[in-house]
Amino acid sequence: MKVSKAMEINDEGFLNQAGTTGRLDDHLYMHHMPYSYTAEQIRKLRTFLFHMQDKPIPRVIMITSALPGEGKSLIASNLAISIAKGDDQYVLLVECDLRKPSLSNLFKYPPSKGVSEIIQGNAKIEDCLIKTSINKLTILPAAKEPPANPSELLESKRMSSLIKELSERYNDRFLIIDTSPIQATVDPKIIADQVEAIIMVSRYRYTKEADFKMAMENLPKDKVVGTVLNALDELPAKKYKYRKYNYHKYY
Ligand SMILES: Nc1ncnc2c1ncn2[C@@H]1O[C@H](COP(=O)(O)OP(=O)(O)OP(=O)(O)O)[C@@H](O)[C@H]1O
Ligand SMILES: [Mg+2]
Repeated sequence: MKVSKAMEINDEGFLNQAGTTGRLDDHLYMHHMPYSYTAEQIRKLRTFLFHMQDKPIPRVIMITSALPGEGKSLIASNLAISIAKGDDQYVLLVECDLRKPSLSNLFKYPPSKGVSEIIQGNAKIEDCLIKTSINKLTILPAAKEPPANPSELLESKRMSSLIKELSERYNDRFLIIDTSPIQATVDPKIIADQVEAIIMVSRYRYTKEADFKMAMENLPKDKVVGTVLNALDELPAKKYKYRKYNYHKYY
C-alpha cells in the first residue's frame, strides 16, 4: 500500500487522509458540554435505541428529515459521539448528503474524498476514512469535490451497495448515516432500504405537519423508530427534545 506524506495509518489501521485539525465546532455539545441539557437529550436518544422493546439494537441508523436545515447533521454527529463515548462502541459516521455536506465544518477536516469518489470508482473506502479526535469515531466524508450529478450518483445502485458493503465490512461498529432532506431529494429513500433504523428530525415551529407526513409516506414506516424535535428557537439549554415516534400526539 502506498502511503503519501499527508497520510498515515491510524490506531485502528485506517488510512487517515489528513485527520481533524483544530477545535471541533461548538455545536458538538456531546463533546464540549457532555453534561448540558442538550447532551442529556442525545444520551436519552442513545439509551432509547439501545433498549427498544422487542427489537434488537439497530447498528445501521439513518438520520433524516423532511426539509433542509432541521438539524439532521448536528443530531447525527452528536449521536455518533454519544455512542462512541460508550464502552467498546466504535462508530462510523457516514455523510451521504452530497449536495450540502457539513461534517467537515463540524469536525474540522479539509475537503476529503469519500462517498462520491467511492461510488464513481475513484477511491477505496479504506483510503477515505477520517479519524476524528474523538476516540472510536471515524468519518466517511461525502466528497472532496461536489459531484456534478449528485442525483444520478445517489440514485444509482452503487449507493445502496456502498451502504451494504459498509455495514458488512464494519460489522463491529455502528453506522450513523447523515442524509439530505426527503422532500428535496430521493436519496434518503434509497438509503432507507439499506438501514435497520431511521430517526426523523423535525424542527420546532418550522416543520409543518403536511411536510412531516409526506416525508413519512416516503419511508418504510416500520423502520422509523423515533423522532427528534430540534427546538432551535428555544433557550440554548433546551435545544433538543427526544420523543418516541408518535406524530399524531406531537402536533
Ligand atoms: N439545536 C441546535 N442549536 C443551535 N443551532 C442549531 C441546532 N440545530 C441546528 N442548528 C443550526 O442550524 C443549521 C442547520 O443545522 P444542520 O446543518 O444540522 O441541519 P440539516 O438538517 O443537516 O441541514 P441540511 O438539510 O442543509 O443538511 C446549522 O447552522 C446548525 O448549526
Ligand atoms: Mg445536513
